[in-house]
Amino acid sequence: MKKVITYGTFDLLHYGHILLLQRARELGDHLTVALSTDGFNHIKGKHAYFSYEKRKMMLEAIKYVDTVIPERNWEQKQHDIVDYDIDIFVMGDDWRGKFDELSAHCEVIYLERTPDISTTSIKDNLSGTS
Ligand code: CTP
Repeated sequence: MKKVITYGTFDLLHYGHILLLQRARELGDHLTVALSTDGFNHIKGKHAYFSYEKRKMMLEAIKYVDTVIPERNWEQKQHDIVDYDIDIFVMGDDWRGKFDELSAHCEVIYLERTPDISTTSIKDNLSGTS
């Protein structure tokens, strides 16, 4: 069984997220999503509209997602890949090159982002700042 992992905040779930998850899942047989906790978002200077528990519940309802685990810090990726026996690490290409060192442990793939949609653009749009 080929196991895939991806990381992110997935706040205000949108079709760019769904397409990323669909393509990630199609690379293998099992998809784990490591979902940024509210505490980790704080460290990253991000504030999610929906809590970790609500974001987790929505991700778990998506047919492409098999397992959701917490992402609590920058350093855990290498351990997750070993602990969960991961074959492929996937991120959107806004992260291209940032995680190449993980290729010592598994395949690293950056998928093209879906154009013209992001959590930030939704927030800006609804607040009238764009
Ligand atoms: N993603 C994507 N296409 C988009 C938006 C996001 O493929 N249009 C991918 C990202 O590259 C990442 C995953 O979805 O691999 C989770 O991204 P996240 O940062 O949670 O979503 P964004 O919409 O980019 O949020 P923000 O605007 O807060 O950065």
